[in-house]
Amino acid sequence: MSHDQSFPPPAAWARDALVDRRRYEDLVALEARDPDAFWREVAGRLDWETPFTKVKDVSFDLTDFRIRWFEDGRLNASVNCIDRHLAARGDQTAIIWEGDDPAASRRITYRELHRQVCRMANVLKRRGVRRGDRVTIYLPMIPEAAYAMLACARIGAIHSVVFAGFSPDSLAGRINDCDSRLVITADEGVRGGKRVPLKANVDEALEHAPGVETVLVVTRTGVATSLKAGRDFVYEAEAAEVADDCPAEAMGAEDPLFILYTSGSTGRPKGVLHTTGGYLAWAAWTHEAVFDYRPGQVYWCTADVGWVTGHSYIVYGPLANGATTLMFEGVPNYPSLSRCWQVIDKHQVEIFYTAPTAIRALMREGEAPVARTSRRSLRLLGSVGEPINPEAWLWYHRVVGEHRCPIVDTWWQTETGGILISPLPGATTLKPGSATRPLPGVKLALVDADGRPLEGAGEGNLCLTDSWPGQMRTVWNDHERFLQTYFSTYPGKYFTGDGCRRDADGDYWITGRVDDVLNVSGHRLGTAEVESALVAHPKVAEAAVVGFPHEVKGQGIYCYVTLKAGEQPGPALEKALVDWVRREIGPIATPDVIQWAPGLPKTRSGKIMRRILRKIAEGDTANLGDTSTLADPGVVDDLVARKRLEP
Ligand code: WTA
Repeated sequence: MSHDQSFPPPAAWARDALVDRRRYEDLVALEARDPDAFWREVAGRLDWETPFTKVKDVSFDLTDFRIRWFEDGRLNASVNCIDRHLAARGDQTAIIWEGDDPAASRRITYRELHRQVCRMANVLKRRGVRRGDRVTIYLPMIPEAAYAMLACARIGAIHSVVFAGFSPDSLAGRINDCDSRLVITADEGVRGGKRVPLKANVDEALEHAPGVETVLVVTRTGVATSLKAGRDFVYEAEAAEVADDCPAEAMGAEDPLFILYTSGSTGRPKGVLHTTGGYLAWAAWTHEAVFDYRPGQVYWCTADVGWVTGHSYIVYGPLANGATTLMFEGVPNYPSLSRCWQVIDKHQVEIFYTAPTAIRALMREGEAPVARTSRRSLRLLGSVGEPINPEAWLWYHRVVGEHRCPIVDTWWQTETGGILISPLPGATTLKPGSATRPLPGVKLALVDADGRPLEGAGEGNLCLTDSWPGQMRTVWNDHERFLQTYFSTYPGKYFTGDGCRRDADGDYWITGRVDDVLNVSGHRLGTAEVESALVAHPKVAEAAVVGFPHEVKGQGIYCYVTLKAGEQPGPALEKALVDWVRREIGPIATPDVIQWAPGLPKTRSGKIMRRILRKIAEGDTANLGDTSTLADPGVVDDLVARKRLEP
């Protein structure tokens, strides 16, 4: 298959895009000549209660470290996402909610959004939430999830959204880490025709999270749930007792907006902290530039609000731009494989943003479910979360977009707050599988293992040599971990954890994580998290987890498990371990392969040689490399022999 095709912007795009070639070059030139002027323009799209005079104060030098943007400005994120749109488009739809059941959908205008967010803000205040307090949100994809985020922003509380697919245990860990005293959840979630017992999960989590004083339970299905007196309250009853107007707190640009937990290569998930001014400016600016967003267009990002993509590109970016953003409760294959395309036709979606894993899964089912639908409203397609293989890109382009829609392959991270590398559809020549170029103002470097910058074409580790407004500011409660994780590998640079190739044209091709972070169906997961779940099982002595290429998920989870003396391996225990990990972390962490390992390959100092385990998992056993430094090289032969026995 040829991977060297390229697609220049279609003529109409080159002519009409907000950022055409000329505008792109002007922005790049402005940034080079007067960076502060460029950043003032980016942040100037927000409404500032007190305008900022300082643009940027940044040093990545560990002895003098700081990241501050627009720091003397004051603003409120919910005002920027709601109030400022009321005069011009109070009656425009802000959120289209499409339920799991295709017969269920709703439109929420900006005026209605204002009322709902104010009510929830007042309920939070009545229950004792103050500026700076942390609120954990464990909700399915219902409008209340957006209301809850914006209600926190309105009163200066810091939200921590926990993906509703996470287990009670994972939820408890996240609640405890940031000392949330209030949790917002729903009675149940509904996905793919199945119910998810969210309130019951919260009850279980709270057995290990004693600091929680209040639980607000949004009614989604109306199923009877047990309410603990004095702690649990039905949200609608609370909301009926408060006013539907609530003044907004003026926040400093550098005041925290939210914490979002994400997986790293070691230890427990870390609380990525984003602040108000820089984050919102970058989310809004990138949403407009990358998606060529114009008022009135219907935009759909299929992510869940539990991930950063949902934060920046379902809620904050689109609403800051006065957009109509679609929020989908369901899954792409329910009730049929045509669901996404039916939703696009039903709501006349113009911009569609999804993950490669969804495209690969649908691609496998053939073209018929797509061809049954019109999709005439579509103008632009987007991809996010993991590398998109050229085959999937070309299918997306040809079958879904019928050659007419450019594809923006957007590279970014929870830590970056918004998109950093992406085509601009009116200005960039697309190459299937390449995220192409950094956005204006984004300073990339590829470095070799010793930190030496690579010039020209080549492959290395992807770093950023300077800040951008959406950059995370710290790890909640652990600034040292923040500095260690991101700024100590290559002094003076932010290290992304990704490998990357730059071609002769200067286009970037992300090759995937170079650390022990897995990307399973576009979801980030630390190998260490899966390992610690496995060793928590009473029969497991030791475990090592690596990723391996998976046709649909991108990466699958491969677990080497050493049992305690006297324990017998077998299919029943294998199933028990798979279920155990699902229960400990959540279904996204479901192991794909369990391989029994009487021993693990370790160096003489006891370090597990993951490089070798990865090779075996990939089936590349002919190239295991040097195994002479192992404490017991025989272990490897044994693992290889067992691997061959598997189908
Ligand atoms: C990967 C998701 C290739 C990458 C927004 C990154 C990508 C990690 C792309 C962050 C892309 C994200 N091409 N790889 N377009 N987008 N990634 O924090 O490895 O959930 O480091 O943020 O996803 O995942 P996270």
